[in-house]
Amino acid sequence: MANMSNAEDKSACQGSFEGREIVVGVCGGIAAYKVADVVSKLVQGGAGVTVCMTAEAQRFITPLTLETLSGRPVRTQMFDLMDSSDPQHIGLTERADLLLVAPATAHNLAKAAHGLCDDLISLLICAAACPVLFAPAMNNRMWENPITRQNVKRLRDAGHFFVGPEDGWLACRNVGPGRMSEPKTILEAISGMLAERGPATPANLPADPS
Ligand SMILES: Cc1cc2nc3c(=O)[nH]c(=O)nc-3n(C[C@H](O)[C@H](O)[C@H](O)COP(=O)(O)O)c2cc1C
Repeated sequence: MANMSNAEDKSACQGSFEGREIVVGVCGGIAAYKVADVVSKLVQGGAGVTVCMTAEAQRFITPLTLETLSGRPVRTQMFDLMDSSDPQHIGLTERADLLLVAPATAHNLAKAAHGLCDDLISLLICAAACPVLFAPAMNNRMWENPITRQNVKRLRDAGHFFVGPEDGWLACRNVGPGRMSEPKTILEAISGMLAERGPATPANLPADPS
């Protein structure tokens, strides 16, 4: 049975991200552990994946885990340069087909909605040359907070995309809206967005930014 679901997982992802370049921004929420699975499945599907983490994200999951799964250095510092002529907030998103922010915290959504750029991920969102997909995760009251609602609306109105959150069990032991979508749902959303973007072309084949 376990083997069968592995095979199903594989067929759902493998090949479908071939030639794609994805940047994954991980923020500081409990659901960060689920993003390891998303990164692994993207890589299994043929994508080049560069992971960026906020300082708070690193309290929940180590860069080592995501570095190992992505096979690339994890970016945590805003002022690191990829090379002297390539500030990462410009170079990464110009090479990317998609920027996934997962889990997107209330804090990250608030910063992005107001154009704040004081960490690498919010800076990448502001500078993004590619579509941005948020996978929010938070306590139900945080999600339902009118300020969060306004921030989500601002981001949608600005052309950004959302997957979830869903209703269900939350790490704070409440049940309600705010649970991050499962990796499979996030991968399906990425697939759908990439399909709309058109086939991978030699011009956007992954260039290893390490
Ligand atoms: C144990 C714990 C779990 C947390 N989980 C979440 C969460 O799921 N979603 C969220 O929006 N904030 C959560 N927070 C609060 C964020 O970590 C906090 O707002 C942080 O500043 C977010 O930083 P970042 O958005 O730069 O990663 C949590 C805090 C703690 C202490």
